Amino acid sequence: MRMRSLWAIPAAAVLAATVLVTAPAAPRAQETTENPFTTTLDIRMGQRLYQQQCTRCHGQTGDGGELGPALTNGFTSASTDAGLFRIVREGIPNTQMIGISRNATDQSVWMVVSYLNSLNSTPAVDLPGDVAAGRMVFEGKGNCASCHMVGGEGGRRGPDLTRVGDRRDPDELVSDLRTPDEDLAPRWWTLRVTREDGSVVEGLRMSEDTFTMRLMDENEDLWSFSKGGVRSYERVTSSIMPSVNALLTEDEVEDLVAYLYSLRREET
Ligand code: HEC
Ligand code: HEC
Repeated sequence: MRMRSLWAIPAAAVLAATVLVTAPAAPRAQETTENPFTTTLDIRMGQRLYQQQCTRCHGQTGDGGELGPALTNGFTSASTDAGLFRIVREGIPNTQMIGISRNATDQSVWMVVSYLNSLNSTPAVDLPGDVAAGRMVFEGKGNCASCHMVGGEGGRRGPDLTRVGDRRDPDELVSDLRTPDEDLAPRWWTLRVTREDGSVVEGLRMSEDTFTMRLMDENEDLWSFSKGGVRSYERVTSSIMPSVNALLTEDEVEDLVAYLYSLRREET
């Protein structure tokens, strides 16, 4: 079943039901995308909230624990303060990440966002590559933008790289580019589904439970299957990202790393 057009209706219905059930819930998320609460005092208040609600999973100082990842190397699920706000407010669906308590105000969520940002200031480093040349490789020969978003433009099949320099250091970027399959998290696995008629649909595994699975194909179309309704399916645990080794020269990789590392939050 092709989901794109059907998608909106059931989702809206579910949402409406949820809102009814949880009527006395949290105040609605603010539309503003600028964080209004960034003073030192705000950060300290954010830290206090963090210590009450987040340490059991993310560790006392945000360096990670058994139940949650480190929050000190930038963020893979958000590239803006507004994105962080949403994650802290609502959690991340289908993961342990539950977010802040329901009765938290928008102000406290912004304060937590400020605290999280304070854990992530990256020192500037001089790199051999050329940022402008790296950007051209990214958009051209490297074909990177077909899968990655930077500043709101590009594909969605890979992580948003708008602030990748905040979460990856140059050495890590080199291994991201050369050995994309290493340490691949399950959220980047591929599903390959063979339908009853023998045709194959393949794409990023968006979600999967006992009976159903959803994937996003290379055209960014969403598909949903019931496991009982297909001939077979398999998970592919290697990355859809090709290694740059066969594709780019040493110099081009250096330039790319310089460009990627320049993608950071402005120091204020
Ligand atoms: C029960 C455990 C748990 C609690 C409590 C929890 N988290 Fe998380 N958090 C997680 C897990 C697990 C993930 C990774 C989810 C995924 O797979 O993407 C996560 C992800 C995140 C991320 C995204 C990290 C990234 O790299 O994009 C942020 C930010 C975050 N948590 C902040 C918080 C804050 C702030 C609190 C407290 C208000 C909190 N979390 C409470 C388990 C938890
Ligand atoms: C076919 C889609 C695709 C293409 C093309 C692609 N990537 Fe990726 N990229 C991904 C996916 C999916 C991931 C996450 C899984 C992984 O780490 O391999 C990823 C991960 C990354 C990461 C790690 C990001 C993080 O947050 O940890 C970087 C950096 C990166 N890609 C840069 C590039 C660059 C530069 C190019 C061009 C030379 C490129 N990618 C081409 C799909 C792609």
